[in-house]
Amino acid sequence: MATTVVQTERLTLRTWAPTDIDAFAVLARDPRVTRYINGGRAATDEQIGSFLERQIVTAARAGWCRWALQLREPAAGEPVGVVGFAGPGCTFAPEIEFGWWLHPDLWSRGLATEAARAGINHCFAVIGFARLISMVHPENAASLAVARKVGMRRETEVEHNGVTLVRHVLDNPLGDLPPDPRYRRDCSGMPHGSSLGTAHPDPDAG
Ligand SMILES: CC(C)(COP(=O)(O)OP(=O)(O)OC[C@H]1O[C@@H](n2cnc3c(N)ncnc32)[C@H](O)[C@@H]1OP(=O)(O)O)[C@@H](O)C(=O)NCCC(=O)NCCS
Repeated sequence: MATTVVQTERLTLRTWAPTDIDAFAVLARDPRVTRYINGGRAATDEQIGSFLERQIVTAARAGWCRWALQLREPAAGEPVGVVGFAGPGCTFAPEIEFGWWLHPDLWSRGLATEAARAGINHCFAVIGFARLISMVHPENAASLAVARKVGMRRETEVEHNGVTLVRHVLDNPLGDLPPDPRYRRDCSGMPHGSSLGTAHPDPDAG
């Protein structure tokens, strides 16, 4: 069963349930969504199923995942996006990568920024991560704008699996919080899988 993590004015960030698979598949198969993620390819059925399963397992083990994003109105609607941490393969472990994606019908209303701000606040004040990074394709103007608006520092360009990505960084302004047993602050023990959901295609992954 899904659990609400945070609510904003217009959005709910929540964990995933297996019944979300059809709504998630709509997002993951939309070429506008995958243009700069998953190597620009629509997700396969296998990737869709394993992404969802990984998020459910990661949330149970770590207290975080790439959460489902749902509009508050209409109530009890389907997920319309994804926002959250690390996830696929924990590719940049031990660093925690923060990502966001949204159904194209909802773009340019400030929703991804609203979700990202809520996720960042939760991750710094509640989970206690020391630092977040975001890897953004240099041509992904909307995503670069979200990173800028939430205060991430554009650090450097890195090459990952033959793709140039812009690394953004945000340090926890609250410093080192005492550990909270409900959360893990690293990717150890998390399920690894395909690169779906990240800006960095991984040809070796399923
Ligand atoms: C990235 C994404 C989540 C942004 O969602 P969103 O809800 O439209 O984002 P917001 O409305 O909060 O902010 C987007 C900003 O980008 C700007 N923007 C959008 N398209 C742009 C473009 N082509 N050129 C320049 N700026 C652009 C918007 O004007 C807005 O900035 P503003 O508020 O200063 O005007 C959405 O485009 C998406 O899901 N893309 C596909 C998945 C993806 O690539 N995720 C990122 C992986 S790193």
